Amino acid sequence: MAERVIPLVDERRSGGPTVRAIALPAQDTRPNGLLADQLGRPLRDLRISVTDRCNFRCGYCMPKSVFDKDYAYLPQTALLSFEEIERVARAFVAQGVQKIRLTGGEPLLRKNLERLIEKLSAMRTLDGQPLDLTLTTNASLLARKAQALKDAGLQRITVSLDALDDAIFRRMNDMDFPVSDVLAGIEAAQAVGLGPIKVNMVVQRGTNCQQIVPMAQHFRSSGIVLRFIEYMDVGHTNGWRMDEVLPSAQVLERLRQGIGPLVALSASVPGETAERWGWATPDGRHDAAAGEIGLISSVTQAFCSNCNRARLSTEGRIYTCLFATEGHDLRAVLRAGATDAQLASAVAAVWTGRTDRYSELRASLPPDAAGAPDGASPRRIEMSYIGG
Ligand code: GTP
Ligand code: 5AD
Ligand code: SF4
Ligand code: SF4
Repeated sequence: MAERVIPLVDERRSGGPTVRAIALPAQDTRPNGLLADQLGRPLRDLRISVTDRCNFRCGYCMPKSVFDKDYAYLPQTALLSFEEIERVARAFVAQGVQKIRLTGGEPLLRKNLERLIEKLSAMRTLDGQPLDLTLTTNASLLARKAQALKDAGLQRITVSLDALDDAIFRRMNDMDFPVSDVLAGIEAAQAVGLGPIKVNMVVQRGTNCQQIVPMAQHFRSSGIVLRFIEYMDVGHTNGWRMDEVLPSAQVLERLRQGIGPLVALSASVPGETAERWGWATPDGRHDAAAGEIGLISSVTQAFCSNCNRARLSTEGRIYTCLFATEGHDLRAVLRAGATDAQLASAVAAVWTGRTDRYSELRASLPPDAAGAPDGASPRRIEMSYIGG
């Protein structure tokens, strides 16, 4: 079939992942929500990064040594406008997306984010339901923004928090930011009814392992779901080492010994990243009042086989994996004047070609070979650029 190729620059951000042009099919196919990638996986979840900047410098994500005052962030003109993001989001929803997560960097640094949330919250899935609309934040600005976010139509929120101990937290965010402000942000979100709230804790052996039990104690019976994330080899800047990963099985063991029994819970939606565990009563049943925790084990137990997530970068590139070495230039299609049908076709063209399963492939490597590839390998995206 003849193909129309909408403008194409094989531009590379210096040292960044390759950018690919999207070739549109000669005829648009009508979207029906039944897209499948090369491994049969549907498209259900879109993560939109609204800024590549952050006011924290977590060592596993934006180490100060790299993200210093000379770091070249994206210029304003490169960013998709809210109108552009809305059009792109519509194309994804037409292709079956049911959940949208706003990420960054730190998404609350993007000016007037509520305006975008208003647009997204008005959208409906193919079966007429509101989107599952959420946001991942470090909560530094949450106390003052929670009400406006709720009013704009945001449903729920996920907060990144790696320690309760103030000294450890200040060291980990490397900006001397106090933990009390994050906790105040979480309280504000609870008070305005942004929920269910989840808290994500990246566990790094040698850095915050001693915080596993205190964090779990703090959030037990709070209605907030705490999730422990294995430190991942995402990007190239964090100097990831396997010996800094604490396998989720060991997190579970520490929780059982430090707090009490847990029982396995079933997944609440297909393709879920977290394995759910509930606090148990003495006779082994789930104690609903105590709540649950989650384990996100992308290093020791890859979950690529049902990965239904697409990622849109701040400047409008589609990435089909967190570990992708190339992005697809949807902004070029958009700014060349594509119709809505063409945008939806562009999304389909990218998704149907997808073969990614990085974490599974890494897990099959011998332990010594796993980890950040050497300098000769293609550049992977950074977490701060694409969000979690
Ligand atoms: P919920 O709908 O709230 O359960 O969200 P989620 O688990 O889909 O998303 P969230 O952004 O909270 O994910 C938590 C963490 O899991 C991220 O910060 C990443 O560290 C990791 N993660 C999320 N998606 C992926 C993925 O597709 N691949 C890998 N390897 N890790 C992921
Ligand atoms: N490994 C695991 N999770 C990470 N995040 C950022 N970098 C990493 C990493 N190397 C997570 C943070 C935050 C989200 C934006 O991404 O916890 O919740
Ligand atoms: Fe910022 Fe989140 Fe990255 Fe920390 S993990 S530097 S808070 S984007
Ligand atoms: Fe999906 Fe890639 Fe993560 Fe696997 S490694 S779950 S394919 S984003």
